[in-house]
Amino acid sequence: MGEPGGSGMGWPTKAVVGKTCHARIIAVMVTLGKSSQGQRVVKLDAPFYQAGLAGYSDAAMRLVARRHGCPFAVTEAMLDMFLINGGKGLDDARLDDADHPIAGQLMGSHPAEIAAGAKILADLGYDVIDINLACPVKKIKKKCRGGHLLSDPDEAIAILDAVRQAVPAEIPTTVKLRRASDDTVEAERNFHRIFERVIELGYAGSTVHGRTVEQKYNGPSRWPALRAIVDTYRDVPEFTIGGSGDIWEAADIFRMIEQTGVDWVSVARGCIGNPWLFTQARAIMAGQPPCPPTIDQQRDVLLEHFHLSVQLHGEEPASRMMRKFGIKFSRHHADPDAVKNAFITAKCTADWHAVIEHFYGSPVSVGD
Ligand SMILES: Cc1cc2nc3c(=O)[nH]c(=O)nc-3n(C[C@H](O)[C@H](O)[C@H](O)COP(=O)(O)O)c2cc1C
Repeated sequence: MGEPGGSGMGWPTKAVVGKTCHARIIAVMVTLGKSSQGQRVVKLDAPFYQAGLAGYSDAAMRLVARRHGCPFAVTEAMLDMFLINGGKGLDDARLDDADHPIAGQLMGSHPAEIAAGAKILADLGYDVIDINLACPVKKIKKKCRGGHLLSDPDEAIAILDAVRQAVPAEIPTTVKLRRASDDTVEAERNFHRIFERVIELGYAGSTVHGRTVEQKYNGPSRWPALRAIVDTYRDVPEFTIGGSGDIWEAADIFRMIEQTGVDWVSVARGCIGNPWLFTQARAIMAGQPPCPPTIDQQRDVLLEHFHLSVQLHGEEPASRMMRKFGIKFSRHHADPDAVKNAFITAKCTADWHAVIEHFYGSPVSVGD
């Protein structure tokens, strides 16, 4: 591992945290991919990424995040059958050239189907294939998927094995897990059984959400549990460990790295309606104070996000979808309740533009 300031041996592969009162990353490069196994290595110049967020993290949100310094993004979990059956599910998975590097995340119940879905994502050009063993949504027809597979380690391992075999050798695979299905000793044992196989099968990394499946999104993400997992697996070569849970502001990224030792951090609810979290994280890395967005920056991002969403979904669905983003964006405004109420009633492009113009002002055009 390199030293702060560089040792002439290239970038360090893990975060180097300075001993200042605000944890400050001095130099970092995150790598994802096992070159020793012929995988392409994705290299990132910052230790964070935008998480999969079902119903939010579409290409519009991802592109806005990238323009604010987010170096990597994961799609929301896609169901294997939606890809296999073609149609809208497959169309939604197609990628914009600017939307790289990216992991396509898959969820399913049967090894053969999820492996077929993984192959489709590889053919569509995803840089990394990520398997979801974390989603706490109830079992469908008594069949485990997502986080519920953590309580069926044989099935989880069969899925991970089938996916790794189906995906071309050069494409890295990763897995998103919860720290356990619940707080029992058996659940913790199951986690480690699965995690050990993840490593043996040649997966390039994993992000662990520090809540249990039973916990869903309630209560804190248990960072000491992430620390224990990192300490157990830290010596595995070319294996990148990410942490998830309770990243609400940019400084939380560096606190998590410092407290848990994870290589990188997944930013989830904290970046909905807040792409500036990434700009602020970059500022912290550069030793600068993280600044809140100005009213002009808020307006520009609202217009950009809405425009990208319309391109992606069409005017009516985008207007509906953008309401929940508007509510989150309103938190940055000096009069959040009024802005929120106005966004809730916006039904089309004209409404959306009117709300923005009223509360955020008109964009300054060239020559003004
Ligand atoms: C609405 C919502 C949708 C989510 N969808 C996904 C998903 O599709 N894939 C995934 O890996 N995680 C998903 N997550 C989990 C987040 O990526 C993250 O692990 C979790 O929210 C904990 O991080 P946070 O406390 O910083 O938000 C979702 C979370 C929420 C709240």
